[in-house]
Amino acid sequence: MRVAMIGSGYVGLVSGACFADFGHTVVCIDKDPSKIERLNRGEIPIFEPGLDDLVETNVRDGRLSFSQDGAEAIRTADAVFIAVGTPSRRGDGHADLSYVHAAAEEIAGLIQGFTVVVTKSTVPVGTGDEVEAIIRRVNPDADFAVVSNPEFLREGAAIGDFKRPDRVVIGVNEDAAAERARTVMSELYRPLNLNESPLLFVNRRTSELIKYAANAFLAMKITFINEMADLCEAVGADVQQVARGIGLDKRIGAKFLHAGPGYGGSCFPKDTIALVRTAQQYGAPTRLIEATVAVNDARKQAMAGRVEKTLGASVQGKTVALLGLTFKPNTDDMRDAPSLDIAPALIAAGARVQAFDPEGMHEAAKLLDGVEMKDSAYDAVQGADAVVIVTEWDQFRALDLDRVKLLMNQPVLVDLRNIYRPEDMQRRGFRYSGIGRG
Ligand code: UDX
Repeated sequence: MRVAMIGSGYVGLVSGACFADFGHTVVCIDKDPSKIERLNRGEIPIFEPGLDDLVETNVRDGRLSFSQDGAEAIRTADAVFIAVGTPSRRGDGHADLSYVHAAAEEIAGLIQGFTVVVTKSTVPVGTGDEVEAIIRRVNPDADFAVVSNPEFLREGAAIGDFKRPDRVVIGVNEDAAAERARTVMSELYRPLNLNESPLLFVNRRTSELIKYAANAFLAMKITFINEMADLCEAVGADVQQVARGIGLDKRIGAKFLHAGPGYGGSCFPKDTIALVRTAQQYGAPTRLIEATVAVNDARKQAMAGRVEKTLGASVQGKTVALLGLTFKPNTDDMRDAPSLDIAPALIAAGARVQAFDPEGMHEAAKLLDGVEMKDSAYDAVQGADAVVIVTEWDQFRALDLDRVKLLMNQPVLVDLRNIYRPEDMQRRGFRYSGIGRG
C-alpha cells in the first residue's frame, strides 16, 4: 500500500515509521521545512525509544521518506492519513480543528483514483463528517472514503503500542465506498493478524468517541486512585496495596492505578476537556469527567504543599531539588507536566529551585522561569533542603542514596511517584513522604 502521512509530529512520525516497517511505502509530510530537513539528515526531532533505528532502517530500505510538499505522495496514495495537531482552543477548551480542515482542503485538490482519507489525529465526534464535506465541496468528483482510526500510543512505548496493540479501532460509515475502505484498512494493518490484535470496525462517530472515552476513562481511573491515596493518608492505609487489592479483580484491572502528582501529557488533559465540551454542546454532560478534570487540576497545584508538609516548615529561603520534569519518563515532552505547576508554586513560596531531567531539560528551560537547570541528579540535589521526585525515570530509582544524603543540606525526600519504600528510606535516615502511604 502507498501511504501519505500528513503531519510528522509525534503521532505521524511513529505511525509512518511503523507502517513502513509493515512493508508499506510511506511519505511523511510536514509544512515545517526545518523538521523535514532534520528528518532527511537522519535526525529524529522527538525522543522516543527505538524510533531512530526504525526510521533509519526503513529510509535505507526505501520504504520511508519525508517531504515538505506532499502533492505527489497524496496523488498516488491508497490511504492519506491526517495526523496533524488538534490543540485545545484558547478560551473554551474545544479542540482546534484548523489544521485538520486545512489538510482536508489540500487532500481534496490532489487525490486521484479511490483514496481512503484517515483521521489519525484525535478529533471530536463529527469531524469525519466535516472532512468529508470539505473534500466533496472542493472536489465533487473525488472517489474517496473518510475513515476514523484513532491512535492509542503511549509516549515512551509508542512503537510497541503500534505493533502490538490491544485493538485497532476503525470507523467506517456504511456508504457505497465502505467495503473498499475496509479492504484498504485491513490491508494496512494485515501484519497485526499475526499478533492476533483485533481490528474493531465500527461507524465513524463511534470510533471518534471511543478515543475520547478511552482517554477519559483512564484519566478517571488515575484520578480515582489519587483520591484513594489522599484517603489512605488520612486513615493510615497504603494506596499501593489498595491498588493491588482492587486491581487483581479482572473487572477493574491493575493498570493505571499508580497514584502520583496528577496526570499530564499531550492527551489526557486536552482530551478530557474536549470531551467535556462536546458533551455539554450536545446537552449530555459528562459529570464524572468534569469532576476528573477539576480534581486533577487541583491536585497538580497542591503538590508543592507536600514539600512544606514533609519539611515541617515553609520553603521560604530553602533550596528544593526537582528530579524529573517531563510528564512521564522516556519522553522529552513537557506538555501539561505536573512540574509546570510544582516549580512555580515553590518559587512563589520563596524557594530556590534546582532541577534535573534526563531528556526534558531543553524544553523545560523554556517553560520554567527561575529554575536552575543542573547537569545531573547529583548536581541538582547539592545543597538541597528537600528533594522531590516528580517523574519516575529509571535512573532515579537507582540513585546512590548515601551520596544524595551527603550532598544535601538536610535529608528530606518527597517521592511523588512512590519509587522508594518508606521503611528503607527511614532506615537510611531520610525524612520521607510518598503518596498515599500513611
Ligand atoms: C496516553 C494514553 O495512554 C494513550 O493511549 C493515548 O493515545 C495518549 O495518551 P501518554 O499521554 O503518552 O498516553 O501517557 P500515559 O502513559 O498514558 O500517562 C499519562 C499521564 O498519566 C502521565 O502524566 C502519567 O504519569 C500519568 N499516570 C499514568 C499516572 O499518574 N498513573 C498511572 O497509573 C498511569
